[in-house]
Amino acid sequence: MAARKQGGGKAGNRMWGGRYKMGPAEIMEKINASIGFDKRLYAQDIAGSLAHCDMLVARKIITAADGRAIKRGLKQVKAEIESGRFKFSTKLEDIHLNVESRLTEIIGPAGGRLHTARSRNDQVALDVRLWVRDTIDRVEPMLADLQAALIDRAQEHAATIMPGFTHLQTAQPITFGHHLLAYVEMFGRDRGRLADCRARLNVSPLGAAALAGSPHPIDPRKTARALGFDGPMANSLDAVSDRDYVVEFVAAASLTAVHLSRLSEEIVIWCSAPFRFISLSDAFTTGSSIMPQKRNPDAAELARGKVGRIVGAFVALCTMMKGLPLTYGKDMQEDKEPLFDAADSLELCVAAMAGMVRDLKANPERMRAVAAADYSVATDLADWLVRKLGLPFRQAHHVTGALVAMAAEKDVPLDGLTLQQMRTIEPKITRDVFKVLTVEASVAARKSLGGTAPANVARAVADARKRFAR
Ligand code: ARG
Repeated sequence: MAARKQGGGKAGNRMWGGRYKMGPAEIMEKINASIGFDKRLYAQDIAGSLAHCDMLVARKIITAADGRAIKRGLKQVKAEIESGRFKFSTKLEDIHLNVESRLTEIIGPAGGRLHTARSRNDQVALDVRLWVRDTIDRVEPMLADLQAALIDRAQEHAATIMPGFTHLQTAQPITFGHHLLAYVEMFGRDRGRLADCRARLNVSPLGAAALAGSPHPIDPRKTARALGFDGPMANSLDAVSDRDYVVEFVAAASLTAVHLSRLSEEIVIWCSAPFRFISLSDAFTTGSSIMPQKRNPDAAELARGKVGRIVGAFVALCTMMKGLPLTYGKDMQEDKEPLFDAADSLELCVAAMAGMVRDLKANPERMRAVAAADYSVATDLADWLVRKLGLPFRQAHHVTGALVAMAAEKDVPLDGLTLQQMRTIEPKITRDVFKVLTVEASVAARKSLGGTAPANVARAVADARKRFAR
């Protein structure tokens, strides 16, 4: 029976309750209210209202005196919210009605004129657009900072040799700097996606009103300009029903989170005792409550784990929007929590990753030792057979395979075989082959565009600094 209980008194909602004889059921109030989470939009909501108010005055839709009172009142509301004095009310559903109601309490009936030629439908579309734009403007430089951290470490480790993996099996020696710069490219694309999203979302829905436009002589170009948009949206129905910018932002966040989780996973692996490629300081590890020796890379694990909620937000948003008829549907109120959560998680993970990248200490001796093990220079040997003896690569591959098998059987590295032993498999091999059988020679030889040679990495660092300058 609780669901039938009436709340809100017999007057109903004082903002829209004209035709209502009674207030909402308690459970209706509960499911309907968004103020618990959309109070985060207060600054955007008030910025939009200030611009709308200026436009109403400029078009003489309201008087200059009312306009002044409204702006003064809105600024007071903002101050009250920021100082924590504001009393948010669930009865007033959302941030829009909470602000307007308080405005009217402060300045009187003139407050009721602010909503002329506007609906909560274009208002909320505007607020969320501005919020996403503000968030991109904060996150994008954070990604640039993460890139800067990676580039600095790449410069430091341009010649530090580590094993490169495919299938997480030792493949060929690479340089640690080169590995770190791979992530710089990924985060560069992520920044590009955020910039694309920002460019596309930067149009104003104000003026669409509920859905069909307004009979008042409004000037949507003016409000668009005042709020830093490129212009107003072309179609009022699209203006109130579009949430592409939320989905696009969270899609970009998802891919960024995927990249962060890959780097996190590598950090976790590199820190583990069997690897010992890097260590994180006390600042970025936690201890175990039972095992005194432990140093757990929790920040990396959490950055790896949070991808779930960010991609989850993407799925939630697409599922919520699919099949929604034009125009606004209350379903769309469900966009905010996933959006906020995805954005908060992303910011946290990007900052934590930048911290870890700056904090980590490489263990070059260990990296080199592992890089040199497991016949990682076998490809160099095959390439030598092609270049010096003119063998077809397929045959060179075969010969090298036989040499690896021989070395493995004797439990020595490739350069642990004698020339005579090698010649039992390929008689034309000369002493010159030993030059290519070290990990240093292997990486130094990979000078092709985008390759891992230390000289390349040094150039790539300079290039990355230019391309990804903040
Ligand atoms: N709280 C609503 C939302 O977040 C605001 C728009 C409500 N519009 C309406 N006509 N009820 O979507």
